[in-house]
Amino acid sequence: MYQSILVPIDGSDQSCEALRVAANLVDPESGSLYALNIQDPPLADDAMGRAAGLLATNADEIVQKEGRAVIEQACERVGLTNKQVQPIVFSGKPAQVILDESRRLGVDAVVMGSRGNSNIKSLVVGSVSYRVMHVASCAVIIVG
Ligand SMILES: Nc1ncnc2c1ncn2[C@@H]1O[C@H](COP(=O)(O)OP(=O)(O)O)[C@@H](O)[C@H]1O
Ligand SMILES: [Mg+2]
Repeated sequence: MYQSILVPIDGSDQSCEALRVAANLVDPESGSLYALNIQDPPLADDAMGRAAGLLATNADEIVQKEGRAVIEQACERVGLTNKQVQPIVFSGKPAQVILDESRRLGVDAVVMGSRGNSNIKSLVVGSVSYRVMHVASCAVIIVG
């Protein structure tokens, strides 16, 4: 049993399966299960702003709302309630955010999907899981 697990969720089937596995590995009494979604930074909604690479004025709000929706859907799919999972949402580069958060939270393990939402099927594992499994200083469990 693990005391704390971080599950990065991008809404893919594999990430939902990772959440299901993590829920079975974490101590149900005193353990912490963190679900992390990373969003792309939302660009400004006017053409000029987008061309200049500006972010939407309410970028933080959009990121939190969309990220939480992804996490909630994943929880519903695997039959977990809000109380069993602590949602965390950021925008940025997925692998870097996952590594930073795993360190900040001091989790025992990261449990993540082998693949995610992209269509690149030639690689055995996705670039995010590849980077995390090689760089993280905690256990990394990749769910196929
Ligand atoms: N934006 C993201 N937010 C949270 N987790 C992510 C994100 N992108 C990838 N992951 C995690 O990494 C796993 C592997 O995805 P990835 O390496 O991106 O593969 P692919 O290239 O197939 O998308 C996912 O199942 C998920 O656990
Ligand atoms: Mg991906």
